[in-house]
Amino acid sequence: MVLADPAIVSAEGEHSRRAGAELLVILGDIQKLKRGNLPEKQKKGLRDRISGTLSGLPLLLRLADEERNRIRSQPDMDRYRRLLAEQSLNDLTTNLKNLSRSYPFRATGILPATASNQLIGNALQQHKTLCAPCHDSPYLDTERPAYNLFDQAQELEIREFAARMVVGVRGDATTGLDNPFSDAEIRSLIVLYRTTGNSAQSESR
Ligand code: HEC
Repeated sequence: MVLADPAIVSAEGEHSRRAGAELLVILGDIQKLKRGNLPEKQKKGLRDRISGTLSGLPLLLRLADEERNRIRSQPDMDRYRRLLAEQSLNDLTTNLKNLSRSYPFRATGILPATASNQLIGNALQQHKTLCAPCHDSPYLDTERPAYNLFDQAQELEIREFAARMVVGVRGDATTGLDNPFSDAEIRSLIVLYRTTGNSAQSESR
């Protein structure tokens, strides 16, 4: 993530934040898989995404450990990947929850989500130019859809949505769009998505 406000994030640690956010997102994705009411394509997309995150996790946790000056035995990623392959999602959840306790998502600067009207206005402009083209009318017949962010923000627990904003803003690898936002901008987008329903969203177009 490209940081526009390093002063805020360095107190926390960029890698620690990201590690915590990734773990919350994986846990949310596993819950989604467990509910089982998704089309087959989207289930495959989720499994691929979880598997991809697990692959990157050892390095990320190591960077987070370095940042916090602590030594920690690395978790057994092969086992996690086996659990995913066997669809032992309850066991996987238990393991990842333990890990998430050691690497909590610290959302300082992003939550609590409050913003002035002016910042929310800016967020709406950013949303319309940068995000709406892919996210406002999701094309769902694909493995990894770009869901409607207003719906997602209102359906998900706010910490999980904030974590998704930290790790997911750039879309996917193929978009090549790095997260260019400061904490205040992410926070303003979260306020926008949480407080503006879909009707307001279409009126504002
Ligand atoms: C070029 C299309 C595109 C643009 C532009 C785009 N996104 Fe996305 N976004 C996606 C796709 C596709 C995914 C799903 C990626 C995946 O499943 O791995 C995604 C995922 C996300 C996620 C994670 C959702 C989740 O369920 O974990 C968030 C949050 C997000 N985008 C926010 C934004 C914001 C905010 C903007 C504007 C600043 C934006 N995106 C711009 C295509 C886009």
